[in-house]
Amino acid sequence: SEKITVKQDLAGVNLLISAGPTVEEIDPVRYLTNHSSGKMGYALAQKAADRGANVTLVSGPTQLSKPSGVAVIDIISAKELQQKVKEKFEQNDVVIMAAAVSDFHVKQIAKQKIKKNGQSMHLDLVANPDILADLGHIKTHQKLVGFAAETQNLIENGNKKLVKKNLDMLVLNDVSRKDIGFNAADNEVRLLRPKKEPKLIAKTSKDKIADEILDELTSL
Ligand code: CTP
Ligand code: CA
Repeated sequence: SEKITVKQDLAGVNLLISAGPTVEEIDPVRYLTNHSSGKMGYALAQKAADRGANVTLVSGPTQLSKPSGVAVIDIISAKELQQKVKEKFEQNDVVIMAAAVSDFHVKQIAKQKIKKNGQSMHLDLVANPDILADLGHIKTHQKLVGFAAETQNLIENGNKKLVKKNLDMLVLNDVSRKDIGFNAADNEVRLLRPKKEPKLIAKTSKDKIADEILDELTSL
């Protein structure tokens, strides 16, 4: 059999990637989450490991098999994700936040199943910390990459996140399109970088997108 060798251009690079959704409990049977499949973050983790990086993947619940040669840390909630990412931040050179982090958690998780009463009901939600923005403001040697899920005014909204979170790169996703993004095998993204023109990566597999993102990272 043939052995395919991959260029080891990320050898010695410590890379932390978050992927998948986070889940916030409501009561013993219910939760809040989102449509993230984890595929884009897992593709990045696998490709980076193939290219020689020391990869730590902090993952929310997904249906995917673990990438090979990658240290995987499982988390459920945004709070747990924040704890793990903060713990690993200092020792990493590159941090890619591909996770779809819940923006809110339930103020008081009910210990017992909430009963319906035939009326409407109200959930008290509290904002989660913005993990990526916090990293952007404490980073020293790290290169920081964010993702953005947008449905309108893509470039404008993406650029605001790039600046506000003090990122080196932002991977902009149009989640209004059904043929790409959430759970699809393919994706199409734009890479935003400070003081550069947006770079389109036309629709292709998430594996190819992952390699293109890593190529761009090596040029940073
Ligand atoms: N992110 C994070 N912590 C949060 C929310 C988001 O670290 N509490 C990160 C995501 O992992 C992603 C980036 O911030 O890399 C952008 O996430 P997105 O949901 O697109 O943007 P938000 O800043 O949450 O703004 P909004 O949802 O209002 O568009
Ligand atoms: Ca959000």
